[in-house]
Amino acid sequence: MSALELIDIRKRYGSVETLKGIDLSLADGEFLVLLGSSGCGKSTLLNIIAGLAEATDGDVRIGDRSVTGVHPKDRDIAMVFQSYALYPNMSVARNIGFGLEMRKVAEAERIAAVEKTAKILQIENLLARKPSELSGGQRQRVAIGRALVRDPQIFLFDEPLSNLDAKLRMEMRTELKRLHQMLGTTIVYVTHDQIEAMTLATRIAVMRDGQIEQLAAPDEIYNRPATRYVASFVGSPPMNMLDCTFADGLAHIDGTLSNIALPAHLHEVAAAAHHITVGIRPESLTLADASNTKFGIDAKIEVVELTGPELVVTATIGKQRLTVSLPPRSQVSVGTTQRFAIDVSALHVFDRATDKRI
Ligand SMILES: Nc1ncnc2c1ncn2[C@@H]1O[C@H](COP(=O)(O)OP(=O)(O)OP(=O)(O)O)[C@@H](O)[C@H]1O
Ligand SMILES: [Mg+2]
Repeated sequence: MSALELIDIRKRYGSVETLKGIDLSLADGEFLVLLGSSGCGKSTLLNIIAGLAEATDGDVRIGDRSVTGVHPKDRDIAMVFQSYALYPNMSVARNIGFGLEMRKVAEAERIAAVEKTAKILQIENLLARKPSELSGGQRQRVAIGRALVRDPQIFLFDEPLSNLDAKLRMEMRTELKRLHQMLGTTIVYVTHDQIEAMTLATRIAVMRDGQIEQLAAPDEIYNRPATRYVASFVGSPPMNMLDCTFADGLAHIDGTLSNIALPAHLHEVAAAAHHITVGIRPESLTLADASNTKFGIDAKIEVVELTGPELVVTATIGKQRLTVSLPPRSQVSVGTTQRFAIDVSALHVFDRATDKRI
């Protein structure tokens, strides 16, 4: 049985099609992240799952029951919104339990559920406080608590961490992961933060312009991106994309005399495409030394930045940009031409005509 199934979901606002046919099926206990840039339709899709917006076409099934036309409160879902307004005059305990109060759950049962939830979120000692007496991270936990107290079939999160500072975000991210591991609930989580997606998801749906561009486990998304778009969306610094022309087993980098030897299994398809993009992650490049200077690409160093754990080098190769992540103590100087060795097992090749992986 699937926890959630979306069948050809479409949404139209006037003449604009915001969702262009979304299909997916989620197993029980999965943590699905909808990842994509602003305006691609993530919130629209989440709201359709929640029943807060109506699809123009298609069917939503929760636990093998069609919920199309079913009121949000009868869908057995709980949602945490990006802007989670807490009731300022109510205590934390009452904020968490308010949904249950509305549903006329008996007081003893309500108190027990609130206490259990507070314990999971480690805010038991804050139950008597008002929201104004909490830190941002604590407030966020209360907002999550309001959803958690309900024990629904599916949790829906819409960018729940986006208004926290970087450090708190990271802490809450770990908390969420721990929660998911502990409770094993099914979650659909919207974000445009690729790190959040990579760390939290069991599967990521990369969305673009109302469609799912790739739906796969984080490892697959990172190591075998299906399109050039997915490849450049996930990873920081982003993957280098070198426009090349393929001939005789070599990807000739446009505007230069440099080339990259492609693995034999790619030759036939690369030859058919002819114009290709070679994707190289910044961490797949190293300084060429005496043992490997023969193979590699020469680039002119423009900027060197120490981020702490790594040295990020920006260089140019012909008119194209190359970013390289090196160990912090690497010797490179601005203005010089440096040869970089490539880990060819980590190359990504895309057809320039279709932007699809070959
Ligand atoms: N009620 C509406 N009427 C008309 N257009 C809408 C409406 N709601 C959303 N849209 C449009 O649909 C598209 C998708 O919006 P949506 O809110 O789903 O994006 P999103 O992926 O959640 O973006 P963000 O990351 O900025 O929150 C946008 O182009 C938006 O302008
Ligand atoms: Mg949104």
